Amino acid sequence: MPDQRPGLFIAFEGGDGAGKSTQAARLAEALELLGFSVLRTREPGGTPIGEKLRSLVLDHGHGTIDPRTEALMFAASRAAHASQVIRPALAQGSVVITDRYIDSSVAYQGAGRDLGTVDVRRLNEWATEGLEPDLTVLLDVHPGDGRDRRTAGDVAEDRLESEPDDFHARIRAAFLELAEARPETYLVLPAQDAIEDLAAQILGRVRDLLGSRT
Ligand code: TYD
Repeated sequence: MPDQRPGLFIAFEGGDGAGKSTQAARLAEALELLGFSVLRTREPGGTPIGEKLRSLVLDHGHGTIDPRTEALMFAASRAAHASQVIRPALAQGSVVITDRYIDSSVAYQGAGRDLGTVDVRRLNEWATEGLEPDLTVLLDVHPGDGRDRRTAGDVAEDRLESEPDDFHARIRAAFLELAEARPETYLVLPAQDAIEDLAAQILGRVRDLLGSRT
């Protein structure tokens, strides 16, 4: 149950290479042009401690990180993000747009690493004191397409991205299951659609939500 707050909380989710960052940026720009106060942020990260945890958990070279440690690092970064960044911005009436949130942990650590989606969700509900998005935009990407997109440039894959395609296939299935369980709070779009079309559909849904609140 979302708690009382004047702002709107939107999360972008999807596999690696889905184009979340592009769409999050487009939505933020469009809402700013419409006069809304917008905070764009990302996970892991969003706070100084979160950015440190980001490089610890994503960079190669820290040795083996076992799945529970990995899940706790993402959850720790998220706890700081929710309490220090997201809640205060929502309380001030901003639209908060985050690139990834709890569903990423449920999909990557719960399903991808086989820790169990129920346990990982419970851990993250505790970490965030139950702070849930008003809307989750899921950009659904086929694992092969995602890999082609993210290796198209010169950027090296991080520790999670470089996992094999079957890991990414489990993640995709988990995201879709989350969306199917609560369709009223999800917008699921095929990541391969044209950038402009995706941006228009996302803005349309967000404007409906903003309109229904005034
Ligand atoms: P992301 O920021 O989307 O990567 P990039 O900026 O390089 O496109 O996410 C970083 C990686 O962390 C991505 O592979 C997904 C993974 N991740 C998890 O495994 N669990 C989580 O809870 C989060 C937030 C991310």
